[in-house]
Amino acid sequence: SFDVRIASSGQVIHIAKDKTVVQALAECGIEIETSCEQGICGTCLTGVKEGRPDHKDLFLTPEEHDLNDQFTPCCSRSLTPLLVLDL
Ligand code: FES
Repeated sequence: SFDVRIASSGQVIHIAKDKTVVQALAECGIEIETSCEQGICGTCLTGVKEGRPDHKDLFLTPEEHDLNDQFTPCCSRSLTPLLVLDL
């Protein structure tokens, strides 16, 4: 599990093992638009300001994954204890 911080508000949200980032944020009233929820469409793409995502999607290229500046919160997770999201 890991935490995400909402850059604009400073709110820190814990992401439990059995929840996606999209689900955990929705429970805190932060809605991210989704479509496929499988890392294919890119609808949920969200900017990352700090931390290193654990990319699980097939939407971004390997080069884009390596930039670590965006991720798909419907399925991707974090390799660092904290991800700061550009929300
Ligand atoms: Fe399709 Fe996240 S909703 S990639």
